[in-house]
Amino acid sequence: MGQPTPDRNHADWWRSAVIYQVYVRSFADGDGDGTGDLAGVRAKLPYLADLGVDALWFNPWYLSPMKDGGYDVADYRSIDPAFGTLAEAEKLIAEARELGIRTIVDIVPNHVSDQHPWFRAALAGGPERELFHFRPGRGAHGELPPNDWRSEFGGPAWTRLPDGDWYLHLFAPEQPDLNWDHPAVRQEHEDILRFWFERGVAGVRIDSAALLAKDPRLPDFTEGRDPHPYVDRDELHDVYRGWRAVADEYGGVFVGEVWLPDTERFARYLRPDELHTAFNFSFMTCPWDAQRLRTSIDDTLAEHAPVGAPATWVLCNHDVTRTVTRYGRTDTGFDFATKAFGTPTDLALGTRRARAAALLSLALPGAVYVYQGEELGLPEADIPLDRIEDPMHARSGGVDPGRDGCRVPLPWTADAPHAGFGGEPWLPQPAGWASYAADRQAADPDSMLTLYREAIRLRPAFGHGPLAWLPAPEGVLAFTRERTGATCVVNLADAPAELPAHTRVLLSSGPLDARGRLPKDTAVWLRA
Ligand code: GLC
Repeated sequence: MGQPTPDRNHADWWRSAVIYQVYVRSFADGDGDGTGDLAGVRAKLPYLADLGVDALWFNPWYLSPMKDGGYDVADYRSIDPAFGTLAEAEKLIAEARELGIRTIVDIVPNHVSDQHPWFRAALAGGPERELFHFRPGRGAHGELPPNDWRSEFGGPAWTRLPDGDWYLHLFAPEQPDLNWDHPAVRQEHEDILRFWFERGVAGVRIDSAALLAKDPRLPDFTEGRDPHPYVDRDELHDVYRGWRAVADEYGGVFVGEVWLPDTERFARYLRPDELHTAFNFSFMTCPWDAQRLRTSIDDTLAEHAPVGAPATWVLCNHDVTRTVTRYGRTDTGFDFATKAFGTPTDLALGTRRARAAALLSLALPGAVYVYQGEELGLPEADIPLDRIEDPMHARSGGVDPGRDGCRVPLPWTADAPHAGFGGEPWLPQPAGWASYAADRQAADPDSMLTLYREAIRLRPAFGHGPLAWLPAPEGVLAFTRERTGATCVVNLADAPAELPAHTRVLLSSGPLDARGRLPKDTAVWLRA
């Protein structure tokens, strides 16, 4: 625990940062074509500075056919023209830094776009095939896929080419998997890291970080479960040690997208010579339940402590159901497998809980991620079927609603066309979207935006000390942070809760009752 005390300009900034996730395509549209862009982000930098965030994580902004929202990268060294230019990205990185905001880019090492020059050359029959996983099929005529692996988006993980060979894609067919046993693949990615660190980025998010290495025999899933043929293979740690050496040359930091239920295996990625941080998906998917949340927090802190890595706290991102919607449902956890159309939702309830959850996560030791629109309390949107672009929807045979519902272009100005986003948005904004507009919320002391601004401003009151639980009735989470004594109490029980002794209420997610007690689904920050 006894970790160094970071401040905003300190090399350890990432240990306690508030990091705002920008899904560029839906953030702000500077040129009026309906797609968010870098000009839009630059125009909103003052908003992000007011919000008080320390860093921005940009989802992939590179040249891409957008078959998976930019996670199909055709060139890691150029910006997609729909978003802007490399020169503009450099300006954005510098302008943000002047406001004290660092930049994190998103690197997608598991796969490339089928339009990437390597894959095009491979299709033409060149030696570049070795950079991917090409195999002959099974069956008398090679008509069956080489193994039984399934795509994360549904359907087989293999696609057959006209020449008879098959290639592997753990995601969409337009995202062929790279062969990480090939030295050129390693070299290329270390060069890409350098390219972005040279441009002033402070960190890198690693997409699908636990999937890169494959069992070279490519065995059937059913026969090769232990170790898993492509999840969390030991070879990966060597890859990330190489990456860490590059990052250390620049003082850069990593955050890995590591979905692993086994906490001990998860923590291996966070050893001192590997990744600095990884997303906390156990917390993100945890139901709104005091005991479950407490266990998730305790497990998180316990698994990070031995490797000296800070925890991260995430409530949602561009892949999962938006927080106010999730917390307004009967099942308040998140699971890709149970996503369905038409799930009943009580948004008022979900919003109350999301406000409390914001204060909970911002009071915990570690870094906090805020996904764009979370600070506006945006709900998951219903997208008309014919407008859904996410491949998860089509590849599930239309059963999975897909992830577009959390990717709707942001509302900025209530009285402007398209709620001030820019041109006609690439995904439709639902009716009533303007009521969430940032300008309206900025003027409202009770809005979600005001809560986030206040919470981020007051968060330093908690300091950097470890967490200590306080005695509390069942269903109530109460903890203090050592050294400052600042305290957070969250009531998930049915009855109102008495507050522990304090000198002052710093902030609360909703009003206390007439007797000064904390109502259900409400959180409060106290000075001891
Ligand atoms: C990650 C991304 C997701 C993307 C997938 C394939 O899970 O967060 O959006 O579809 O990787 O790159």
